[in-house]
Amino acid sequence: LYIGIDLGTSAVKLLLMDENGKICNTVSKEYPLYFPHPGWSEQDPRDWYKQTMEGMKELTADCDKFRIAGISFGGQMHGLVVLDENDEVIRPAILWNDGRTGKETEYLNDVIGKEKLSAYTANIAFAGFTAPKLLWMRENEPENFEKIRKIMLPKDYLAYKLSGVFCTDYSDASGMLLLDVEHKCWSKEMMEICGVAQTQLPKLYESYEVVGNMKADVAEAFGFGKEVKVIAGAGDNAAAAVGTGTVGDGMCNISLGTSGTIFISSKSFGVDANNALHSFAHADGNYHLMGCMLSAASCNKWWMDTILQTKEYAAEQERIVNLGQNQVFYLPYLMGERSPHNDPKARATFIGMTMDTTREEMTQAVLEGVAFGLRDSLEVARSLGIQIERTKICGGGAKSSLWKKIIANVMNLKVDVIESEEGPGYGGAILAAVGCGEYTSVEEAAEKLVKIVETVEPEKELVDKYEERYQKFRKIYPAVKGLFR
Ligand code: XUL
Repeated sequence: LYIGIDLGTSAVKLLLMDENGKICNTVSKEYPLYFPHPGWSEQDPRDWYKQTMEGMKELTADCDKFRIAGISFGGQMHGLVVLDENDEVIRPAILWNDGRTGKETEYLNDVIGKEKLSAYTANIAFAGFTAPKLLWMRENEPENFEKIRKIMLPKDYLAYKLSGVFCTDYSDASGMLLLDVEHKCWSKEMMEICGVAQTQLPKLYESYEVVGNMKADVAEAFGFGKEVKVIAGAGDNAAAAVGTGTVGDGMCNISLGTSGTIFISSKSFGVDANNALHSFAHADGNYHLMGCMLSAASCNKWWMDTILQTKEYAAEQERIVNLGQNQVFYLPYLMGERSPHNDPKARATFIGMTMDTTREEMTQAVLEGVAFGLRDSLEVARSLGIQIERTKICGGGAKSSLWKKIIANVMNLKVDVIESEEGPGYGGAILAAVGCGEYTSVEEAAEKLVKIVETVEPEKELVDKYEERYQKFRKIYPAVKGLFR
């Protein structure tokens, strides 16, 4: 049996998979997310660990615990977790959707220069990346910065607590802006720029490599056997790509979670000349390009929970019938935006309402706005000559048939739906299985285990309508961005 842990932003989702890829059990445990200032986003790593331990107990309560062979992760990316000499967390983790580092990001991109950053790491600076957060800490919390002995990413904190090994993997490390992605080693230049030493950084592994065994006392507490292997795991997007079979060359996956991402796998290393897409290592040993929106399913959650104050997501969406005909537009920038605008100050906007605008049209505009935002990144990929005709889809938002239909038509892509939308958790379990020798490669495992159950086809008439609307949508951000400086 294999355990996949998806360390998300709203909850940790644990999944138990058998040797044949069957999902035997899943458990989800929430934890708080803190916004101590507008645009800041933090979590306490100790909450992650506590809830993971609780979840693991529940997950394995009814299984033969001695059959558990390996455990691995898909973790929210870019978060800065810092430990002191006693391995205590120094401050709350600064998350992937935190926008406090506008100044540091500008310094990196404009003073150090995008060309140099891209040469050192294959990427430019974005506010949520880890390196600008280190610069922020050095400037704003020097006493905390001095205490740092270990710098790690969210899922690596779990791996460290479980195995005692200070490790990370290439896919997740790619998002730190400290890794030379092409050569898969820490960048000396970036370490110098950020004022950190290699001894403070974790050892690098491929996502499917074993880093060690679960500590004896932890394994014992769960009643597991002595040799539960801990496998490095991946950033949640790379893990989700594994979980949806997006491996090898030219495959695409869309994740509709708190963030929204479009992930394009590639056998060769490549950089988008404008660095609008991230160029990262993949969990299968290869590479990928990715666009990331900071608010995707979270836009719908905000709209439904906070504004409409209803939990009836499905009922709300059932009333939407006029696809392609909405006059209302929504810009999905509740937390600023990463891809492709790289603007932490961008803000969400409704535009185009009239006296007869309905609640359904506003809900529809939210779903469409997220799809248009993803299309922005797809357009960058298309401009690089990458041809994509179909995509997989995962994440909480992928449960909605309406949203999948909107995505298929806004993006003019066939959307392949996988048996389970548990992308990162399933991917984590697959990585554990590969690490334990159950499969010879991630590609082989994904090919054997991931099953497509349905394909949502774009419809010509709707594609045309959405094309017209998308061309209008593109004009809104440049027109309103000046309002939020
Ligand atoms: C990717 C990113 C998000 C987080 C979400 O670059 O920042 O998708 O990984 O957990």
